[in-house]
Amino acid sequence: MDEPRYPQLANSPLYIRRAEAAKLDHPPAPSSPLGAVAQARLPGSTSRREMIEGILAQDRDLVPGSFGTVYYKPVTVCGIELKLEPVQPSIGTVVHGIDLASDLDDPEMVTFLRELWLERRVIMFRNQDHLTREQMVAFAERFGEVGAQFGEREHMPNSPHGLNQQVKVEGIPNMLVVPSDETVPSAASGWHADATWQRRPPMGSILMCREAPPVGGDTCFCDCYGMWEGLPLETKQRLERLTAVHIGGVAHQMDGVTPMAVHPVARTHPETGQTSLYVQQGFVRRFSEEDGVPEDEERALLWRMKLQEGRPEYTCRFRWQPGSIAMWDNRCVLHAASGDFWPHRRLMERLTILDFDESRRTPYYAPEKH
Ligand SMILES: [Fe+2]
Repeated sequence: MDEPRYPQLANSPLYIRRAEAAKLDHPPAPSSPLGAVAQARLPGSTSRREMIEGILAQDRDLVPGSFGTVYYKPVTVCGIELKLEPVQPSIGTVVHGIDLASDLDDPEMVTFLRELWLERRVIMFRNQDHLTREQMVAFAERFGEVGAQFGEREHMPNSPHGLNQQVKVEGIPNMLVVPSDETVPSAASGWHADATWQRRPPMGSILMCREAPPVGGDTCFCDCYGMWEGLPLETKQRLERLTAVHIGGVAHQMDGVTPMAVHPVARTHPETGQTSLYVQQGFVRRFSEEDGVPEDEERALLWRMKLQEGRPEYTCRFRWQPGSIAMWDNRCVLHAASGDFWPHRRLMERLTILDFDESRRTPYYAPEKH
């Protein structure tokens, strides 16, 4: 196996703590998807070591290959022949035939990609592992201002519980490194948009895969326009007057304080003008008190919205390879990692992008006039 890209990870206190815990040889808890899938693959296993060896043995004979036919749209932009492969009818397009390190100097190409991104909510690229982290930042800067690890700089998490903050990338403080291996299994497997507990959450995010498991670890993306459209009319009419409270987790704390923000439930996309359902129940548990929603009704509305998250018709699924990149629009997309790949390795690098236009950063709702 290659040398790990972040050997300093092994010196972080949390890694050391988890490595100690791993020596106890208890299988990972099935309360996390990673543990549940491992139990499902090797039922009845009581030893962590036995489970790791059993799963790796199941996957040992996998070899890379490609099959079948995909449909794509050929298009030439700035003299470059691109192949646009839709992943799902309403969300996700893989852009083949582009080198993100060298093909974006012409503003026409950037405009093309931005329009495609707005139309398809998330665009993906393959074979970009040659991009240095500096070049990733340069790519992100074509579309907006690169944010800190969790978007706006006004809230920089410093929670001692967070592992991610301890993986420092020299010279690229804005990058969030998301490692997962046998010792530190981790995947953001609940549906969420990034850092919506910020007052002005990041417009978009870019994720680069540096190491991918041979099977599993896909990221799913859910279209929040579809989520909104799919609600009954009377529910929409009720929800469009409400605001929701977004609360961060322990890892998002700064100086011991958990971040919190209130945003409209229905959000107008500042560029497309479309309405998205801007609630994801990773960070939202309730409406704001000023709305005075009775408890029973609140529960019923949250449940109704929850059922929209990850419906197959609104969702695409992206299989990672080293050098794959996804860029999504946090204003109208939820994402969730598939936490099914332990004990394999997975290493991701994330950047957040803030809107160049500061007046568009705060979520708002402006009902369409009929
Ligand atoms: Fe995320």
